[in-house]
Amino acid sequence: MNNLFLKTLAGNKTIRPPFWFMRQAGRYLPEYRALREKTDGFLSLCLNSKLACEVTLQPISRFQPDAAILFSDILIVPYGLGMSVDFVEGKGPILDALSDSSDIKRLKPEKNKGRIDATYETVSLCRDRLSQDKALIGFAGSPWTVITYMIEGGASKNYAKVKSWAYKDEQSFNNLINIVTDATIHHLSAQIEHGADAVKLFDSWAGVLSPNQFDKWVIKPTKDIVQALNMKHPTVKVIGFPKGAGHQYIDYVNKTGIDAVALDTNIVPSWAAKELEKKVVIQGNLDPITLLVGGETMLKEAASIIEYMKGRQHIFNLGHGVLPETPPENVEYLAKFLRNLGEG
Ligand code: CP3
Repeated sequence: MNNLFLKTLAGNKTIRPPFWFMRQAGRYLPEYRALREKTDGFLSLCLNSKLACEVTLQPISRFQPDAAILFSDILIVPYGLGMSVDFVEGKGPILDALSDSSDIKRLKPEKNKGRIDATYETVSLCRDRLSQDKALIGFAGSPWTVITYMIEGGASKNYAKVKSWAYKDEQSFNNLINIVTDATIHHLSAQIEHGADAVKLFDSWAGVLSPNQFDKWVIKPTKDIVQALNMKHPTVKVIGFPKGAGHQYIDYVNKTGIDAVALDTNIVPSWAAKELEKKVVIQGNLDPITLLVGGETMLKEAASIIEYMKGRQHIFNLGHGVLPETPPENVEYLAKFLRNLGEG
């Protein structure tokens, strides 16, 4: 098998660290913007298997990373539970927010069966079109991060609504976590069954919780998801991304059973290489802002991360997604540097 990404996840040595970039498909690519203009809305693009597969593969043709990530969104899960999800230009996502525990009954996984099945067709199409040396990553948001959108109704400054609910009414919040956890397990399993080689859980707002809440709403549901996936698909690896978790990355790795962990931009690579349990694979964590700057500054930062990760299983990536204003040439320059590391 010449798949560097899967080899690294499996704990094997490779000639260079595999790489891919978070948000490698998206608005910074002219070919994405062209295709997006022809669709009526972001969600309909996500649910059009042929076009979503096209977008998934756009960065593969341009940069030859070692993995493609399914083109979709974490908010497809609340959509699959029957919520309305709208992406408004300049405003971000807007959802018909759940305002109290009596609203939980609006979520109807059974009634909405099939609403997001196009996603699984996208996975099959992409796996068929990708060569065997490229991995296909499936993904979902973590229950906590997805629920922030379901309760806040969109992006939030201080997460006051969702955190207050969790403090005030732990029982109903836990019900909600369980509903989203089950939907997430189903969503990730279906992606695996349709050809995803590995899956990633995006916990973008893990860093806003108090230590007790982090334990209950990040660690516990993540552990439940990892356990369920390990039972159903024992060979498929799970990558976790608890963005903003700081030193709680240690607990996250020790307690969830995750196979690989993605570092955000703020994590000191030498600290992570030393402190995180050795069996876990580390992904990360170049500052996406260096891709706005490009040139030797960007390469120097990249090289220093690779140096610190020597002696660890490492998948090179960014600490967060590629920004829309990133010049594609800079991404190309970085990708070329990373590909050439294997050339001696
Ligand atoms: O290339 C990839 O990484 C795969 C596709 C992907 C998207 N979103 C496409 C997208 C993935 C993995 C995501 C995850 C996602 N979505 C997260 C977690 C990762 C992170 O960034 O922390 C979150 C929090 C979301 C929710 C979301 N989706 C927001 C807040 C927004 C609006 C942001 C903005 O910049 O407008 C989206 C929309 C979105 N998801 C776009 C893309 C390419 C832009 C949509 C467009 O074309 O207008």
